[in-house]
Amino acid sequence: MKEQVLKMLEADGGYVSGEYLSRMLGVSRTAVWKVIKRLREEGYIIDSVTNKGYCLKGKPDFLDENIIGRDINTAVIGTKIEVLKTVDSTNEEIKRRASNGAKSGLIIAAECQTGGKGRFGRKWESESGEGIYFTFLLRPGLPPADIASITLAAGYAVCEALREYSGVEAKIKWPNDIVINNKKVCGILTEMAAQMDMVDYVAVGIGINVNNKSFSEDIKWKSTSVFIETGKLTERNLLFREVIKKLDLIISEFLTGIPEERKTHFKELCITLGRSVTAMRGGTEIKGTAVDVSSGGDLIIRQSSGELVSVNSGEVVVQGIY
Ligand code: BTN
Repeated sequence: MKEQVLKMLEADGGYVSGEYLSRMLGVSRTAVWKVIKRLREEGYIIDSVTNKGYCLKGKPDFLDENIIGRDINTAVIGTKIEVLKTVDSTNEEIKRRASNGAKSGLIIAAECQTGGKGRFGRKWESESGEGIYFTFLLRPGLPPADIASITLAAGYAVCEALREYSGVEAKIKWPNDIVINNKKVCGILTEMAAQMDMVDYVAVGIGINVNNKSFSEDIKWKSTSVFIETGKLTERNLLFREVIKKLDLIISEFLTGIPEERKTHFKELCITLGRSVTAMRGGTEIKGTAVDVSSGGDLIIRQSSGELVSVNSGEVVVQGIY
């Protein structure tokens, strides 16, 4: 009911009477008042004027684990969600927790990261109030070779959440990036601790550019945010909840067997396929056309000689993108 009240207040933009809200929702005015009280506790600024009703004046702009986790009921990812004000890196924090026995499914998010990490030792810009920065812990009981596919599954889940919740044409740039209009909106950094034949844990770190209005000089040519693409500010808590729900669904499927239609859809959303790419494999540059993603998550590249080569990690430059 909370979401419905919010929607009605937002849609109107002015004062909406308690009587009208209770009639539309089929509940008592006391119930409406309780919802308004709860919204205020969550940081929504709601003005109330006798004989006029309620007016939404402002929304909270901080990550809140109670809002994110409300009615989420996930089974595999987000079984516990913790939001920190600031941390060096949510990946580092998850690794510390994992070493201390934290359970599979834990999510650590942070309002800001002082040492946000990207792939290949790069920095991940992690200002407060802009993006969603989090890492989930998984103890999948799988061999190390299967872990690359978890990253692909996570990227696909984020892509789906962005498409459905924000209405953007998000696509997957194999293996770790989500792009909108050929610019990066999300990056994923997966780390693991493993024995030779079995993974102890996987830390999947996800950074989504949500309300960012600009980026630093060196990355702005290839970066975008949901705000830049839609012109609208997003309530990060609500988008985050949708991302976690999708992660839970897709990672559960990954652990039990991904349905064929999911694989097909993944390939449809993979912007790398069908394009000219340059990849590195064992220090050798591979050029060709990306033609497929194997069941193990490798990118299959057809070289000009016709030979098919598979690449399982690293950076791939896609012509016309980055
Ligand atoms: C990349 O594209 O290079 C990967 C970026 C991953 C960034 C996220 S933000 C949350 C988590 N914590 C980190 O320090 N990095 C990941």
